[in-house]
Amino acid sequence: MSSRPIRWGLISTARINERVIPAIRGSARSELLAVASQGGPEKAARYAAERSIPRAYGSYEALFADPEIDVVYISLPNALHLPWAVKAAEAGKHILCEKPLALTAGEVDRMAEAASRNGVILQEAVMMRYHPQTIQLQERVAEGCIGDVRLIRGLFTFTLVRPGDIRFDPALGGGSVWDLGSYPVSFMRTMLRAEPVEVQGWQIPGEGGADLSFSGQMRFPCGALTQFFSSFQAVPQANADLIGSRGTIHLDLPYVNKVGVTSRVRIYRVGENRSSGTFGDAALPLEEETLTYEDVNGYHHEVESMVACVLDGAEPIVSLAESRGNVATLEALCASAREDRPVRLEQPTQGKG
Ligand SMILES: NC(=O)c1ccc[n+]([C@@H]2O[C@H](COP(=O)([O-])OP(=O)(O)OC[C@H]3O[C@@H](n4cnc5c(N)ncnc54)[C@H](OP(=O)(O)O)[C@@H]3O)[C@@H](O)[C@H]2O)c1
Repeated sequence: MSSRPIRWGLISTARINERVIPAIRGSARSELLAVASQGGPEKAARYAAERSIPRAYGSYEALFADPEIDVVYISLPNALHLPWAVKAAEAGKHILCEKPLALTAGEVDRMAEAASRNGVILQEAVMMRYHPQTIQLQERVAEGCIGDVRLIRGLFTFTLVRPGDIRFDPALGGGSVWDLGSYPVSFMRTMLRAEPVEVQGWQIPGEGGADLSFSGQMRFPCGALTQFFSSFQAVPQANADLIGSRGTIHLDLPYVNKVGVTSRVRIYRVGENRSSGTFGDAALPLEEETLTYEDVNGYHHEVESMVACVLDGAEPIVSLAESRGNVATLEALCASAREDRPVRLEQPTQGKG
């Protein structure tokens, strides 16, 4: 176990940095050393000065050339994750890369190959997956806390009113399904610990071609079905429900994307003295259990996971196989929406790595 803190460099001045910078600074074994901006040296210097970041670079390549940077955080538009993650790997930097990791499974393979060849860690910054709420609920569901899962449904929406936002541009990997839908898709695959066998999607495209709203369904090998809705055209909403043979679960903040907000998971199970009623539809006595997460910051856990991987040789919490599975599912959903047909997916040959 190394005692020297790992030194971070930010690749871009993206808005999401505002959540990750405090997490890096709050990590005892991390140091935020540099930021790079393709907007040039002045933009980088201004950004660095405002946030007391010691070094500023006017290009991403210049930051990669700094031998004192151990790990880079890539917060670029989705379509730029592949080229810059590959360049970072070639420069020998460990990489925490924003979600979704890429836009095709083939791109994930190229990123994984570059990371492996250069001996660096590559992990997806899908903060929800590092949050104890997700990890603990995944275990509870696997233990059968609501019996067999029949359905998971979830939605993630907000009203996008920012002209020129990267989310409107298909060339940058825009679209509500990639930006917001990627969370419920990841949540559902995580809860079921499986990849879907078949998906169907429908989209409402915007003027530029990226979807503004997307509705998707997935069928899993265990027989569970899932449904999600993502949108840039609706009031802000984020929730998820699981319906099982022995109970239900409701999450009020499933994607745990708010810092400083308490999230709750309500688990309802049918009681022991179950009476079925004439049609098996009698109101069942329910036992309620609430899991509460107060002041838990998923970004903190995401940063600490990278630190543990780099300094202690820990296993990544989000494997590249899981990131690949999410991207492959999103890719299939988009193909379904485009071609107006259900799309079947290949099942992974081994367990999820
Ligand atoms: N984990 C989460 O909670 C979360 C939340 C929001 C977003 N995200 C993800 O984070 C990434 C960034 O999202 P964001 O909304 O924070 O981005 P943003 O504010 O729009 O910033 C993107 C940055 O990328 C750089 N960039 C390089 N080439 C660009 C180009 N051709 N067009 C636009 N920007 C370009 C720019 O920085 P420079 O000019 O300084 O290089 C720009 O500031 C996305 O992958 C998104 O999915 C994650």
